[in-house]
Amino acid sequence: MIDPFGRAVTYLRVSVTDRCDLRCQYCMAESMTFLPKRALLTLEETERLCRAFVSRGVRTLRITGGEPLVRKNVMRLFRGLGGLLEGGGLDDLTLTSNGTQLARYAGALADCGVRRINISLDTLDADRFRRITRLGDLDAVMAGIAAARAAGLRVKINTVAMKGINEDELDRLVAWCGDRGLDLCLIETMPLGEIEPDRMDHYLPLSVVRARLAETWTLRDTDHRTGGPARYVDVAETGRRVGFITPMTHNFCESCNRVRVTCTGTLYMCLGQEDAADLRAPLRAAPDDDGPLLAAIDAAIARKPRGHDFVIDRAGARPAVARHMSVTGG
Ligand code: GTP
Ligand code: 5AD
Ligand code: SF4
Repeated sequence: MIDPFGRAVTYLRVSVTDRCDLRCQYCMAESMTFLPKRALLTLEETERLCRAFVSRGVRTLRITGGEPLVRKNVMRLFRGLGGLLEGGGLDDLTLTSNGTQLARYAGALADCGVRRINISLDTLDADRFRRITRLGDLDAVMAGIAAARAAGLRVKINTVAMKGINEDELDRLVAWCGDRGLDLCLIETMPLGEIEPDRMDHYLPLSVVRARLAETWTLRDTDHRTGGPARYVDVAETGRRVGFITPMTHNFCESCNRVRVTCTGTLYMCLGQEDAADLRAPLRAAPDDDGPLLAAIDAAIARKPRGHDFVIDRAGARPAVARHMSVTGG
């Protein structure tokens, strides 16, 4: 699938739930209204949707949420999609998780063919973790990370860099990940959905972070890419990579390879735009014929926008889009 700007769409992010067992401050409001469970695609429908995208050239499937591992029976989906690896057209089956459920699921995920996983971790301090996530228990996440490593999964840690919240810990996180052989991605806060307090109060440009890290670490630019938005540097002292995801200060949309589908079957062609296509209706209209579904996917890719227009505007720090990150899963 080639979009109007000549970009090949080979990466699909699939949200299986908008629910989460945490309430990270930058992601969700304290009180969220979640979708009724009956509104969700069934896991069978989700698998059929994924298969349709793979038949159209998608090579990476990333399962997201909310927190994907709180979706009931989600391992059924992983098992089904694992069947597409090795000869079925899929190269990479992966997920982004908050880690709380991983102690339970890491081994089973590896058995399904998952080789790498991205885990969110914004702090190494238990009290701070509780404040940022409102509900979280850092020990559970640490156990999850350990289980993922023990299962042989390659782990990338995602850290949203926040002024006055975890900026003093980023050096320590580089060392912590380095000691454990984990890659680390630092992320700029993106304005998605209304939250209180305004997340832009804590916005921290990664150009500042990089300059600070360079006072401690020897950072070398690399060409390493995962097909994602991160630009990586090698850290000479740890031998690991640190990635920078900079939607606010440095737009990476020109090399975008991805689209995302929500747990209700809505396809968003860009994380930062409202335009969407409903795939649930064509999916349900013809249960034994993928024709209408494929036609809807093709029509949507043909109008994938050039990119997002997030702006850093303190005066009017309105979210770029009304939906929260937990709806599209990043
Ligand atoms: P890989 O490169 O496959 O490891 O994944 P990733 O880093 O793209 O995925 P992950 O789910 O770990 O997301 C990390 C951060 O990147 C999250 O904050 C996502 O919202 C953000 N992100 C992922 N894709 C996009 C995108 O297309 N546009 C923007 N603006 N942000 C994205
Ligand atoms: N801005 C940037 N990153 C965010 N994430 C969640 N909400 C936001 C936001 N508003 C991150 C999470 C997770 C990934 C899917 O997206 O920390 O690692
Ligand atoms: Fe849950 Fe992830 Fe959002 Fe945190 S960032 S509330 S872990 S979906």
